[in-house]
Amino acid sequence: MHQEILQYLETNKDRFLKELFELLRIPSVSADSRHQQDVLAAAEFLKKRLEDLGMDQVELLETDGFPVVFAEKITDPAAPTVMIYGHYDVQPPDPLDEWITDPFEPQVRDGKIYARGACDDKGQLYMHLKAVETLMQLNQLKCNVKFFIEGEEEVGSHSLEAALEKYAGKLQCDVMLISDTSMLANDTPSLCVSLRGLTYMEVEVTGPNRDLHSGVYGGAVDNPVNTLCEMIASLKDENGHITIKGFYDDVRDLSEEEREEYRRIPFSEANYHQHLDIKATRGEKGYSILERASARPTLDVNGIWGGYTGEGSKTVLPSRAHAKISMRLVPYQDHNTIARLFEEHFTRMAPPSVKVKVIAHHGGNPYLTDTGSPGYKAASQAMEQSFGKRPIATREGGSIPILATFERTIAAPIVLMGFGLDTDAIHSPNEHYGVFNYMKGIETIALYYNHYYNQMQEHNKVTANQA
Ligand code: BES
Ligand code: MN
Ligand code: MN
Repeated sequence: MHQEILQYLETNKDRFLKELFELLRIPSVSADSRHQQDVLAAAEFLKKRLEDLGMDQVELLETDGFPVVFAEKITDPAAPTVMIYGHYDVQPPDPLDEWITDPFEPQVRDGKIYARGACDDKGQLYMHLKAVETLMQLNQLKCNVKFFIEGEEEVGSHSLEAALEKYAGKLQCDVMLISDTSMLANDTPSLCVSLRGLTYMEVEVTGPNRDLHSGVYGGAVDNPVNTLCEMIASLKDENGHITIKGFYDDVRDLSEEEREEYRRIPFSEANYHQHLDIKATRGEKGYSILERASARPTLDVNGIWGGYTGEGSKTVLPSRAHAKISMRLVPYQDHNTIARLFEEHFTRMAPPSVKVKVIAHHGGNPYLTDTGSPGYKAASQAMEQSFGKRPIATREGGSIPILATFERTIAAPIVLMGFGLDTDAIHSPNEHYGVFNYMKGIETIALYYNHYYNQMQEHNKVTANQA
């Protein structure tokens, strides 16, 4: 089995890379309306490649935004069904001048594929198509497979909740398998057991009805940029705790066992500093770097603007100031509740000299995996088989906004088996993905189906005995 899979991968490696490159050449930037046609082209590309695999049915499911690429292969109606989720949209490539090579002309350097989306998520998603191809060609696919590939993940998956309800009938499955997270290192496999949620807000602070001469009015009329900065600064105290009333109400403390697991993760603070060219980190008091970056909620300004930012100088007391502020949430926090608490807090704290407007952009709830599920156990076994080491369970700090909704509407457990590395520069210039990770991912995913099939047999026996 394993040998045959490895043989097939070896024989087809060049083509597997070539096909991925074709997908990477399509600039499917969902945030930028000038790329609308390209985003659609990526969906069409995947539809064709899924048809080539010999899926029973492939279609684009219409949503209020970009379509979902859906495909299914029913091998045996009695067998368990694995649904693959991924996204074909990518982040904008900016800042363009920091890329060594064109973000949409993939290049392999030093064993790594450089391109926007190489890791997040085209490279990781495409592994799934090739793993299914491998099993189908070798006549070893025992499970049913569905693909559900969306095109709006990088902008908050706005249209997906409605789409999930509309297409729920088609989407029935026993497990949802996702490769859109990272592992610890190429020789330290890990499985992600929790992702953070997100609440994304925008604020506008308005002072006088127009920009003023800062000499004539400065000192007497409130400056909204100064005031916005003060307001933002007060959102955290000296210990790095967020001061929004009620913010931590639903946060659970890490257990001693969980903290012990964090301490077992191989991690070098010196490498971390070096990689980012920083001398020190700074964050919430009482927590380690890894805990801060994955198990604790955060509040960050993503962008701030107002007043004169052009060339040279202009003496002006601006009329308005703006900021985009996001909060990463941890299990049991709810993104709608947090959006409301933020709005109340921010409005309440504003001095009478300014007006405040708070807009909620998008949000998603945090996610926690059930590590006792057959789907999770199979992932652990597949990784152990391909890497020769048992994966470590880790929490990660990023978000896939639709996960919690998926679990609620489709009622299937979600398994996060990602093969990226934190150093792959996702969302940054020079994003890349290791050729090793791409091929290892395909191998591990191919092995997954067999382990999952066996786990489900076992699971069904146990539940039948209990009945
Ligand atoms: N794949 C990432 C999420 C991720 C990255 C999880 C690394 C774990 C490790 C995903 O594409 C992403 O970037 N999500 C956004 C969501 C947002 C745009 C709504 C995020 O986390 O910022
Ligand atoms: Mn992603
Ligand atoms: Mn992303």
